[in-house]
Amino acid sequence: MIRKAIFPVGGLGTRFLPATKAMPKEMLPVVDKPLIQYAVEEAADAGIEEFIFVTGRNKTAIEDHFDHSFELESTLAAKGKREALTLVKNMMHNPGSVMYVRQQQPAGLGHAVWCARHLIGDEPVVVLLADDLILGKSCVREMVEAYQGGNMVAVMNVPEDQTGSYGIVTPGADDGRVVDVKGLIEKPAPADAPSNIAVVGRYIIAPQVFETLSSQERGASGEIQLTDALAKQIGSAPFHGLRFSGERFDCGSKLGFLQANLAFGMSNTDLAPDLKAWMQERLK
Ligand code: UTP
Repeated sequence: MIRKAIFPVGGLGTRFLPATKAMPKEMLPVVDKPLIQYAVEEAADAGIEEFIFVTGRNKTAIEDHFDHSFELESTLAAKGKREALTLVKNMMHNPGSVMYVRQQQPAGLGHAVWCARHLIGDEPVVVLLADDLILGKSCVREMVEAYQGGNMVAVMNVPEDQTGSYGIVTPGADDGRVVDVKGLIEKPAPADAPSNIAVVGRYIIAPQVFETLSSQERGASGEIQLTDALAKQIGSAPFHGLRFSGERFDCGSKLGFLQANLAFGMSNTDLAPDLKAWMQERLK
């Protein structure tokens, strides 16, 4: 049973400046919901009960988003906007189940995860990167169901010329869905890549990973990398990659973000007919 999830939201989001100048990247909306809310809902769907955000600068928008907004709620009530009121009220989690830790400097994803160490006991925990948005079945749920102890990452096959943008797996036994991870390397050039099986931003990590992270070793881009700490566990704990069934969008990039808005728009029954007609007209 995995009960806790860490959401690292301390990155600078430089690829989205100026939008991210005063607002975290994870608050960018896809259709009508911020990226971070999709991630939280995906985790809740997998039975996660405690939500730990590792924040950086400009954190208040995320804290406010997951808290009551008394003024908004009373205004909606006074105006009789019941549907909107239910929507904002339903977002609330149990008191005390949402926690915030501050990452004092953006020293990398591994560092962000390590900052949450005092909130995690001797139990495995999920890590979700909200800028990897997944359309379809909850990827975390699929991972929790397939978890066999040790560490697990969500993986997908990527075009060979794109390995430099991902953590890449050296595969062992592979049944087409679950792959044994024999090695892991961060952002290899295509010529150095052991495969085209790439890690996307969903992890289940064992408590030992926090001990490894405490050495604060810097890796690719001079940052403390989560993949390096996971790679160090290989051989001493099981490590699997899971090919999830949903479609992943890289919302950390402008193209991926635009694609996500179109794909989520097309999966929205209210929007799809008009959106499709507009796109067909536009592409003529
Ligand atoms: P990215 O590699 O996308 O970095 O982080 P970034 O700073 O957010 O974005 P760019 O590249 O400058 O545009 C992947 C995830 O890890 C988190 C980010 O918030 C994002 O969810 N992260 C990264 C941290 O929480 N802390 C860090 O120090 C680095």
